Amino acid sequence: MSKKTFYITTPIYYPSGNPHLGHSYCTVATDVMARYKRLMGYDVMFLTGTDEHGQKIELNAAKENMPPKEYVDELVSKFRKLWDIMDISNDRYIRTTDDYHVKAVQKIFKKLYDKGEIYKGNYEGWYCTPCESFWTETQLVDGKCPDCGRKVKLTKEEAYFFKLSKYSDKLLKLYEEHPEFLEPESRRNEMISFIKSGLTDLCVSRTSFSWGIPVGFDNKHIVYVWLDALTNYITAIGYGSGDDSDFKKYWPADVHFVGKEIVRFHAIIWPAILMALDLPLPRKIYGHGWLLFGDGTKMSKSKGNVVDPKTLCDRYGVDAIKYFLMREIPFGSDSIFTNEALINRINSDLANDLGNLVSRTTAMVEKYFSGNLPGKLESDDIDNELILLTTSLRKKYENHMEKFQFSCALAEVWKVIARANKYIDETMPWALSHDPEKTSRLACVLYNLCEVLRIVAILITPFMPNTSPLIAEQIGASGNMLTWCKADKWGLLSQNAKIKKGAVLFPRIDAQKELEELNKCVK
Ligand code: MSP
Repeated sequence: MSKKTFYITTPIYYPSGNPHLGHSYCTVATDVMARYKRLMGYDVMFLTGTDEHGQKIELNAAKENMPPKEYVDELVSKFRKLWDIMDISNDRYIRTTDDYHVKAVQKIFKKLYDKGEIYKGNYEGWYCTPCESFWTETQLVDGKCPDCGRKVKLTKEEAYFFKLSKYSDKLLKLYEEHPEFLEPESRRNEMISFIKSGLTDLCVSRTSFSWGIPVGFDNKHIVYVWLDALTNYITAIGYGSGDDSDFKKYWPADVHFVGKEIVRFHAIIWPAILMALDLPLPRKIYGHGWLLFGDGTKMSKSKGNVVDPKTLCDRYGVDAIKYFLMREIPFGSDSIFTNEALINRINSDLANDLGNLVSRTTAMVEKYFSGNLPGKLESDDIDNELILLTTSLRKKYENHMEKFQFSCALAEVWKVIARANKYIDETMPWALSHDPEKTSRLACVLYNLCEVLRIVAILITPFMPNTSPLIAEQIGASGNMLTWCKADKWGLLSQNAKIKKGAVLFPRIDAQKELEELNKCVK
């Protein structure tokens, strides 16, 4: 039987500056979800990429005295390098300048034009260059762009329009019949009122600049960057190419992860385009929150508050950074990034709770049993609570993961870790070790701790793919014992497992000293 598929995407990033921690945030969340589904046995397609056309990029390239393609090539290689450093497991990477994408977008545009979904008209409106958006007079806030608050420019041009307005009722019906289409709920309500306030047709071509995909049958015009960008989700898997087998296999996408400021494009324009193309809609759009910086503003290059993710990964390791991003910020909400919070989490959750559990457990097996637990184990009633809590962890974890509540899923895992640390204090293996009659009891206590670590190692795999095998190795767990379906079973670690204390997983950080160092690194 063929495996169930799972198709997940990040937004495609503008290569208009270096990638920063805000970009990493969404990509890490998507990576976690992709790894989680692979762990469960799904055939996963994880797509990310870069959105390389548009006036902003054209202007940035001109400022650097570079042809736009050269300009984006340089930045795209930085994005790709960062995803390598961060162990991002994307299956595909799309660049909107890729030839196959350009051709497919032209086909899509032509198809929509031939079907009467796109028509030619005149456009007069207020244009915000950084946002690549046209606004009507009434949409402006104090005469400025309602999205970013910057200056807008009155522009008139002959243009092609997509009949967005005709989809108002269908979109409202979509939200009524499939409330799960857009989450969290607060974003859904915003979209419903936006649609109800009246949709106008969408200008989908430009003539005022040239860095874009030519319309094809009317090359004076280039395709509006959002039409170009949104269609990446289908062109990357072969729609509009000679081979659409992956499209048939993976579409519709299971979820598009997007930041809250681009929900509107994904939750209104994208489904309308798909409806116009007679294609199925993605199952879900999830609008996550922002990583804010100190003063409560969105981290962005232009504000000069960019924390370089590479610096953080170099200093603390990729797994620690991924853990922090997923644990600290409830997906869907905004959260302020601070170096203090990062260091506190690393010290308390990783060095203290997890790191200590691993090192105490393995050190004791080495000390009392030279790394090999005896076969005879003597259980006690006190074990039951720990065993029950650990074997019921997978279900709770799964419930949170299915709702993209990564922080809650990790919190459940850490409850078990805390319980296991407490179990060490309660059972006092050091005291048991003094009594030769208690050898089997001592062995059982340590075996139970190793089993907790085995299950923890499985469930942290999506978040910390490098740490998980290090833990498994130390407790002598391998292969079949580490699969998803063994994460709610107890007693699988084999009798002759060789347990061996390894290097410290997360060294404790001297917070004061480190904060001073880190503050020097903010660009
Ligand atoms: N190119 C468009 C997306 C097209 S998708 C068909 C775009 N690019 S972007 O580079 O500006 O942003 C890409 C994503 O990064 C967005 O989802 C945005 O929310 C996210 N983030 C950028 N800065 C962020 C934070 N500081 N925090 C969290 N996410 C942020 O929009």
